[in-house]
Parts: sequence; C-alpha cells; structure tokens
Amino acid sequence: MKTIIEPFKIKMVEPIKLTTRAERESMLRRAHFNVFQIPAEDVIIDLLTDSGTSAMSAEQWAGIIRGDESYAGARSWYRFEKVLRDLTGMPHILPTHQGRASERILFELIGGPGKSIPSNNHFDTTRGNIEHSGANAVDLVIDEGTKPRSRHPFKGNLDSVKLERFIEDVGAEHVPVCMLTVTNNSGGGQPVSLANIREVSAICHRHGIPFFLDACRFAENAFLIKSREPGQQNRSVREIAREMFDLADGATISAKKDGLVNIGGVLLMRDDSLAKRADNLLILTEGFVTYGGLAGRDLEAMAQGFTEVLDEDYLTYRLRSVEYLGERLLAAGVQIVEPPGGHAIYIDAAAFCPHLPPEQFPGQALVCALYARAGIRSVEIGSVMFGGVDPDTGESTRPPMELVRLAIPRRVYTQSHIDYVVEAVSEVFVHRHELRGFRILEAPPVLRHFTAKFEEL
Ligand SMILES: Cc1ncc(COP(=O)(O)O)c(C=O)c1O
Repeated sequence: MKTIIEPFKIKMVEPIKLTTRAERESMLRRAHFNVFQIPAEDVIIDLLTDSGTSAMSAEQWAGIIRGDESYAGARSWYRFEKVLRDLTGMPHILPTHQGRASERILFELIGGPGKSIPSNNHFDTTRGNIEHSGANAVDLVIDEGTKPRSRHPFKGNLDSVKLERFIEDVGAEHVPVCMLTVTNNSGGGQPVSLANIREVSAICHRHGIPFFLDACRFAENAFLIKSREPGQQNRSVREIAREMFDLADGATISAKKDGLVNIGGVLLMRDDSLAKRADNLLILTEGFVTYGGLAGRDLEAMAQGFTEVLDEDYLTYRLRSVEYLGERLLAAGVQIVEPPGGHAIYIDAAAFCPHLPPEQFPGQALVCALYARAGIRSVEIGSVMFGGVDPDTGESTRPPMELVRLAIPRRVYTQSHIDYVVEAVSEVFVHRHELRGFRILEAPPVLRHFTAKFEEL
C-alpha cells in the first residue's frame, strides 16, 4: 500500500484553533516577527520542534499513574534502569531532567579552558555548555554535510581525516571527549552511518580519547542505517542501536525526542570514577541518583517510550511521513536538504528567496510567511540562529546554510496535516518574490533567536 497510515488509533484529541490571516498578521507584528513569542494556541500546525512535543501512548499514560514517587530506590527507577541497560549496555545510567542537564554535568567534569571537543556538528545547547566550561567546540562534519543538494545517504558523518588532523594539531591530551550527534540535528537531521561510528570510535580509542554519542535520535538513526547502509537490512533496529552504544564510552540523551516523552534526559557512561563524580554533581544539582530531577512517573513514561520507539512499524511510518513531506516539496519546486533526514525537513531558504541576501535573513522571511499564510510555526536555522559578530575581528559571521526547519512532532499530526503543510509551503513558494527581508532591532548576545526583535524591511 502506498498510503502512509499512522500505526495507532486516536483516543484523545486536542482541538486546534483555526485563526484568520488578519489575526495571524497582527500576532506576528505583536511578536516583533519572532515566532518564539507567539502563544502556542495561536498556531495551527506547530513544527517549531520535535523536542518534548510527542504524543504519549496509552501505556505511557498508564505508567504515569503507576509511577512510584519514593525518594530513593523507587520501583519506577528500577524499571527505567533495566530498559536503558538492555538498550545500551552502559553500566552507569543517570537520569536527568533533559538533555542539556546531562551535557552540563559532563562538560563541567571534563571540559574547561585549554580543552577542545570535536563532533560532527554540536547542537546549540551542547556547544553552549562546552563553551560555558571554557572549552572549545569544533564541528568536523564531512563536506557533503554542508551541501544541501548532495544525496549522500549519511551526511551526518564525521570526517575521519579532519578528526585525525585535528587530534594531531591540538594534541590528544587536550581532547577530553569526542562527540557524535545521531542524527545530526544542526546539520539537517542527517544520519551517521554505522561504518562512520565504528571508524570514529576506533580513531578515538587509538588516541586514548573517550567517545560519546549525543544520542537524542538514536532510534531514527538506527532505522536509517537499516534502510540505507549496505549489509544492515536484515538486522533489527534494536540490534543496530545496541551496536551504536557498544562502540561508545558514554552518551548524553534528551529523552524528549526518541524517548517519546515531554520531559526527561539520560547521561550514560562506562568509566567508574567519572560516574562517581557525575553522581555527586547530579545529587548536588538535579536530585538523588534514582530520580535525577524527575518524578517517578516521568521515569515510567521514559521506560515505556524507549521501548516503543524501537517498534519498526512506528519507525517505518515516522520516517516515511517525513520523506513524503520532502518528496512533495521537491515536486513543487522547493529546494530542501536532501535526502530527508529523520525528524524534520529543512528548506533551503537561500534558494527559496534568492532576492534576499543573508544579512536580510531569508529564513526569517520564510518562517514569518508560513505563519501568516497558514498558521504553521517553523524555525530559522541560519544567520539569525548562528550568525553574529566575531569578537576578535568585529566582522559578521555567517553559517554555511540558510535553512528553515519543519520539525515533525512524534505521533501528533496526521497525513492530512502533512498535506496541509505541503499546500501552504507550495503557495508561499509561488509568491516567494514578494517576501521581504528583516533587520534585527534588538537581540541578546547568546541564543539570540529565542528573543530577538525584528523589523520588516
Ligand atoms: C542533538 C541535540 N542534542 C541536545 C539537545 C538538548 O536537549 P534538551 O532540549 O532536552 O535539553 C537537543 C535538543 O533539541 C538536540 O537536538
């Protein structure tokens, strides 16, 4: 069958308020053209993020009721620990309230001035936490990873030649960890191949450098390995995921993605002495080691989510639905980062608005047009998010791509919602020459995309 069906029935519904174009235009003006400032109830289809926006299953909600709220050694903790141990094989499993809490604990312990931490692409909170510790965050994705039209199946791969050169340049003793983001969110949600994970792991271990995964979307990455990597078709996604973790010395995970929950995170590691120090920091800043800043019910929902996410019928629907959105946009003439990755479609905003130079923020223009046209909320990943001023030279810095991300929440929207998005983007595309650029009126020095105020040119 060609029709993509959601492999679930809907038991509970959340109404969507259908606003008018005039209402949305006035909302945009009030929000200073920053969609982060628009109340969610005034959004028709919210594709701002796939993080923490999943719909939970009946079993997860049942787990919420079953949650054991004992302070130490709760039943829910043991269930969570068993699920994570079976999945990853890691001896040390620390629950945290979300991914960045895991990052903060890790980099507070092993980061610091004079250290450099490579990755394919660091996600913004990962980079932020590394830099906050005083260390240097370095992106070493393969060159194809920055070419939107390249159909390389694993554009999230880390360039092993660049990694060897980097280690030689800075010295292995200054590299406390090498990260690999699976899938590579900041690089277009592109997967990393198993061959690349094996290679990066081997390089790190040859130099005595610990190797950690940023494994928020490990299941989607494992499914894309199964679909695209020669020789992997007959393995289960669970088996592939386990090999990914077996190759690593630890992982940071935001459970708000493939954990299929609205809040939660995990920090995993093999090193006993590092784990002891991490436990102490966890107790100091998050909570006791058997709950880590979460309620027992959250641990239950995570345990169930990390189990359900490996259901291959779910993953087939999930990945096919994202791919379908990509195919339809390409057919309408819209250029996207190809091939579609796991959790989102990234529109090439520079190609969409060739009349707008990067300093007029073409991505921001598209984000605002999609909201005004159809109430769709997306996010700019380009010169607003990653541009700025070099503190040393005073010159403007620009990322290699101007993208707009349409992130698809898990199990939330149906096929007809996706068709609505296709129709809206296609209509804005027909009128793309009318889109106007923007200027930043006011912005904080870091993570400016959340609160910047814009003015239409
Ligand atoms: C790749 C990656 N790493 C880390 C994080 C941070 O996770 P959290 O938002 O739970 O702190 C995210 C969140 O989007 C992410 O996509």
